[in-house]
Amino acid sequence: MHHLLILLLLIVSYLPVRAQSISNVTPKPVEFAQTGKEAVVVNGNTTIVYDAFYADQAVYLKGLVKEQVGLDLQLQAASQSKGVKDGTITLVQDEKAITKDEMYTLVAAGKDITIRAKDTRGAVYGIQTLLQLLSLQQVKSVQVPAVSVTDYPRFAYRGMHLDVVRHMFPVSFIKKYIDYLAFHKFNTFHWHLTDDQGWRIQIDSYQKLNSIGSWRKETLIGHFKDQPARYDNTRYGGFYTKEEVREVIRYATVRGIEIIPEIDIPGHSRATIAAYPEFSTKPDTTWNVATTWGMYNRQNNVLAPRPETFKFLRTVFHEVAELFPSKYFHLGGDETSKMWWKADPYSQKFIKDQKLKDEKGLQTYFIEQVASYLAEKNKTVIGWHEILEGELPKSTIVMNWGGEKEAIAAANRKHKVIMSPGKPLYFDHYQSKDPNDSLAIHGYNTVDAVYNFEPVPEALRKQNLDSYIIGAQANVWTEYMGSPAKVEYMIFPRMTALSEVLWTPKEQRNYADFKRRLKTAVIPRYKTWGSNYFRNFEKWTAEK
Ligand code: ACM
Repeated sequence: MHHLLILLLLIVSYLPVRAQSISNVTPKPVEFAQTGKEAVVVNGNTTIVYDAFYADQAVYLKGLVKEQVGLDLQLQAASQSKGVKDGTITLVQDEKAITKDEMYTLVAAGKDITIRAKDTRGAVYGIQTLLQLLSLQQVKSVQVPAVSVTDYPRFAYRGMHLDVVRHMFPVSFIKKYIDYLAFHKFNTFHWHLTDDQGWRIQIDSYQKLNSIGSWRKETLIGHFKDQPARYDNTRYGGFYTKEEVREVIRYATVRGIEIIPEIDIPGHSRATIAAYPEFSTKPDTTWNVATTWGMYNRQNNVLAPRPETFKFLRTVFHEVAELFPSKYFHLGGDETSKMWWKADPYSQKFIKDQKLKDEKGLQTYFIEQVASYLAEKNKTVIGWHEILEGELPKSTIVMNWGGEKEAIAAANRKHKVIMSPGKPLYFDHYQSKDPNDSLAIHGYNTVDAVYNFEPVPEALRKQNLDSYIIGAQANVWTEYMGSPAKVEYMIFPRMTALSEVLWTPKEQRNYADFKRRLKTAVIPRYKTWGSNYFRNFEKWTAEK
């Protein structure tokens, strides 16, 4: 009897490891079924067969499988795959069967797993789903359940933002962040590259942006509201070189992620005017790159409407536009403090001469100018919702960090809207009310609040204007995130919750089931990534 048991255990240990269930996939696919047939075995003899269009994704898949389960799969172009006998994972570009952008189907049956898509993203998402059907341990062989999946996103824009100004992160972490996006089937990385506290991208035409604007003398310690303010007396800064930016873009492109750069104007420009005081409303002042957080009267943050400022903006926006392949460019436009223009005779005369209504009109003038420079490079402009304080071309996309009111107004003015409301999509807000929780700016945005967020306001649905809401994005401002581990603590698991809001049909969302999948499948994955996350999300709910 004893021996029999040992024999049995021995046999079991040689059987392929059972993989994850299709019902554990996150974000939850649109349609999926366990087809009941025998599981498909993936082992060291399995070959990835790929259509030429998916050559990069085949290599990407091979790397991910190796990392996750330790199997070193073969790679074979479909055009040369005649002799392939054993099991296959096939990436097929199929413009007939696949009817929507970003869609994929995944069928595992017999000896084969086939992912069909028509664009890069569809294949990337099929790959993410497949990886969730494999085990999380290193194995010699794994059984993928026989399944059929048909899947596509609810929203076209699924974004995550990262502020690399208040704190900067190494290129290795930017890539990791892009991997987090790809896993969660997000398609856009909004890279917030400039602000009052620093300029974080190489610029050749105005080099003082880097030699001066990329560095601050020191950094605030503790919370912005603490009195008296204390500083760390340590120079801080740096910038991404163009070569690093290109490397990140290449990395993101394979993963179906579009990178939208943001250069924030005409406010949040303290780093610019520290480097070039002649673009400020007080050219005779020596401005420093901001060392504290917050804005308005604690720091000057606006550009003055001088000819040399507009020449600067055209040159620099062109330089950055040429670097990024995205057809979108984010020009900020938020929190422009009007007091500096009010107090500046030159700006007042400019407002009068240009027949602008007031300082809001001047803000709009800046946005229009930069939008026209970007149009020369075929870029469509995105701006924070304050840009609608003026009239802009309908092609301008509004990123709304306010509430439903701003979204409803923008859609009624026929602008496309990306929802990114402070509540609940600012991931720099607290996720608990524990006084010992790690420092955050303020607020209380829990995982369940994120999960239950509905991007389309009811009022727009009633007006049949829901299609103006093209998606949503969470923002990650890093005043209180000095390390990658702190960023991870703030985004996980809230980002996982948002992925399902953006991907899964509304009727199929179910928080209890999401939590089950989060605990059984996603958190174990955070652990294999070595990623930090907020553990106490069940205790701290929107009700509390
Ligand atoms: C913002 O939070 N000022 C976009």
